[in-house]
Amino acid sequence: MVDTDEIIKKESKYMVPAYARKPIVIYEGKDTLVRDLDGTEYIDCISGISVVNAGHCPERLVKAGVEQLSKLIHCSGLYHNVPQTLLAEKIANLTPSNITKSFFCNSGAEAVEGAIKISKKYSVTRGRTGASVIALEGSFHGRLGLSLSLTGQSKYKNGFGTFANFPGVVHAPMPYCFRCPLVYPECGIECARRVEDIVKYHTSGDVASMIVEPVLGEGGIVVPPKEYHELVPKICKDNDIVYIADEVQTGFGRTGKMFAIEHWDIKPDIITMAKGLGAGMPIGGYVTTDEIAASLESGDHFSTFGGNPVSCAVASENIDYLQEEGLIANAGTIGKNMRDRFSELADKFSLIGEVRGKGLMIGVELVKDEKTKTAAKDEVTEIAKHMMKKGILVGTGGVLGNVFRIQPPLCITSEQAEKVLDEFEKEVKKY
Ligand SMILES: Cc1ncc(COP(=O)(O)O)c(C=O)c1O
Repeated sequence: MVDTDEIIKKESKYMVPAYARKPIVIYEGKDTLVRDLDGTEYIDCISGISVVNAGHCPERLVKAGVEQLSKLIHCSGLYHNVPQTLLAEKIANLTPSNITKSFFCNSGAEAVEGAIKISKKYSVTRGRTGASVIALEGSFHGRLGLSLSLTGQSKYKNGFGTFANFPGVVHAPMPYCFRCPLVYPECGIECARRVEDIVKYHTSGDVASMIVEPVLGEGGIVVPPKEYHELVPKICKDNDIVYIADEVQTGFGRTGKMFAIEHWDIKPDIITMAKGLGAGMPIGGYVTTDEIAASLESGDHFSTFGGNPVSCAVASENIDYLQEEGLIANAGTIGKNMRDRFSELADKFSLIGEVRGKGLMIGVELVKDEKTKTAAKDEVTEIAKHMMKKGILVGTGGVLGNVFRIQPPLCITSEQAEKVLDEFEKEVKKY
């Protein structure tokens, strides 16, 4: 049997150092818990970055995967296959009534790039150029070419030159009330209104699409004010801009609804998805209207592995599982309880600047000083390290790196949630 040191040493010898990994080797997982190679158990509060919404290795999903593995693992896009079509049908029944046509790929970045690509073709089929695309400052949409360009954070782009700056991509302000110089609601949602200026002054006026995360995930679990999600889709509609809701991180129950757009009744033209869709199996995709779908001709887009039968079979079972086991409702209830307790801590400890989120997508932003809101990045790193020692894995992030991301599997119990909060309180108290 290999041990932790050996794996970490071999990784540094044989793998490209792309990841900043914590010094443990995750070996197995069940529901909310994971165990490392040394047998230490952890409450997983990040879910493989919002992926295993159903928990680790639920029996029903494992069975669905194993059954499909023994039938057909792969057939590529050359032929029809059963799990892919049935998954598309299932997704069409979850999305707003006019959003029924899916394309499947393998990851979030591919989903985003596919969605932008079809929005551009849709523009062209209507005699336009679709030269520009709008994304948000502080957003995250992936790390490939176009998706990295859309991502509104320089820390991910640094060192990649024009690869990270595709022509035609422009950014609108981040709806981040906590760090906005204007005050909500007197601001009149200037961040949303600015989208009109961006179209007017930063583009040729011919914008194919705008992509928005309903809750900005990597940006620090930032929940835009409710009027934002009314105004921006309206501006897009008025300017004939395809509105893409990037639900890669928020989708499949994470926020206490199947899709986060349901919190605001947003009616997008395209929804991108990945992460929570496959319960850990690699799959991404987008789903759109008949009219937009019709702008692609066969051969316009393709993915060899996209919509793999095993991933699709597990994803279909996962959607049923999330609903039938009440996990989405659990995300709403436990998520609210956790946020309430984090907020009580925020009243007690000035280190906590803001608590925000929806369902089990919770952000806790730390600041060195309540007035200046100086980001307490080192404190976040230290507390996360100590929590890991206490058997709790939390995520960190945010545009300034000073936000805890609490995104456990949706099957987390009240007792486990309490333990997370207890340990967090003990750590925060030290500052
Ligand atoms: C909203 C959003 N879009 C796209 C992506 C990219 O997904 P992937 O890492 O699967 O390429 C992410 C990943 O964190 C995301 O949060």
